[in-house]
Amino acid sequence: MINELKQLEKNALAELQTAETEDQFSNIRTRYLGRKGLLTGLLRNIAQVSDAEKPLFGKLCNELKNLLDARIEEALQRQAIRNKEDILLKEKIDVTLPGNAIKCGRIHPVIQVRREICAIFASFGFSVVEGPEVELDYYNFEALNIPRDHPARDMQDTFYISDNVVLRTHTSPVQVRIMEKVRPPLRILSPGKVYRPDSDVSHTPMFHQIEGLLVDKGVSFGDLKGILTAFLKKIFGEGTILRFRPSFFPFTEPSAEVDIRCVMCDGRGCRVCGQSGWLEILGSGMVDPAVFQNVNYDFEEYTGFAFGLGLERIAMLKYGISDIRLFFENDIRFLKQF
Ligand code: PHE
Repeated sequence: MINELKQLEKNALAELQTAETEDQFSNIRTRYLGRKGLLTGLLRNIAQVSDAEKPLFGKLCNELKNLLDARIEEALQRQAIRNKEDILLKEKIDVTLPGNAIKCGRIHPVIQVRREICAIFASFGFSVVEGPEVELDYYNFEALNIPRDHPARDMQDTFYISDNVVLRTHTSPVQVRIMEKVRPPLRILSPGKVYRPDSDVSHTPMFHQIEGLLVDKGVSFGDLKGILTAFLKKIFGEGTILRFRPSFFPFTEPSAEVDIRCVMCDGRGCRVCGQSGWLEILGSGMVDPAVFQNVNYDFEEYTGFAFGLGLERIAMLKYGISDIRLFFENDIRFLKQF
């Protein structure tokens, strides 16, 4: 019997040597240690062993059982670890693969230009104020010396909300609103949206303007020229060539439009400047005494100048954009270039 036990041990150990899978180890366990297993069978026949050998036989059987149990348990554990490693290997993430870039918004080119202009005028001592986009007829027209039925109203087509309420057609009403509240001297800049029923490559029904207003004692047309020249050279470059061209606005007298030498063709004449070599950049003028009267400013004591410019137009010239509508299509491929 003891020899049989020794043989059984040899066989079992040999089988363990060659087993690889979890199933194979479990089978070995059942074959030797299960209820009908080989080792269990031997033990059951202990009666056949002589009394003298019984204790030794029992001890050897137990030792073998413990040995096999331990070996199998150990093998199964090793196998479990290997399985886990296989899974990890299969599911391994290659951290060097390029990821999905996060799409990030940009500052809209119109807003970039607006910030740039506000920063330049801030350095000249102007502060920024805002006014309503839905505006009373009084501020948009009347107080700016554009009475009802005056032909100047035809200069700007208008969206009417009601008889007395409009979508503002320019930022000039902010001039009046601020002068009603603040006594001179003042220097303000007022950016914002304005509305006119127009739509083509250079007009959209909504666009952005910036209004400037400076009022003080002894302000002259020379101050207007000086400030606007300094501003335009900052925004378009030191070498920019300007001209002040006489014009008309009901709320300024005298009035001037300011042109810069065409940035596209350098003055030779092209499609952008309509072959003229010049680009109209802004409207300006000395505040009309009639406007001062409407806000109770003493026009004998104070003078001032005002100007207004279109932000899209400046952005188009700065970045060489040929269609104003591109600004409002919100196509990320367009917007991310700036
Ligand atoms: N408000 C005028 C426009 O929209 C521009 C302007 C502003 C002209 C201030 C003179 C002074 O065309």
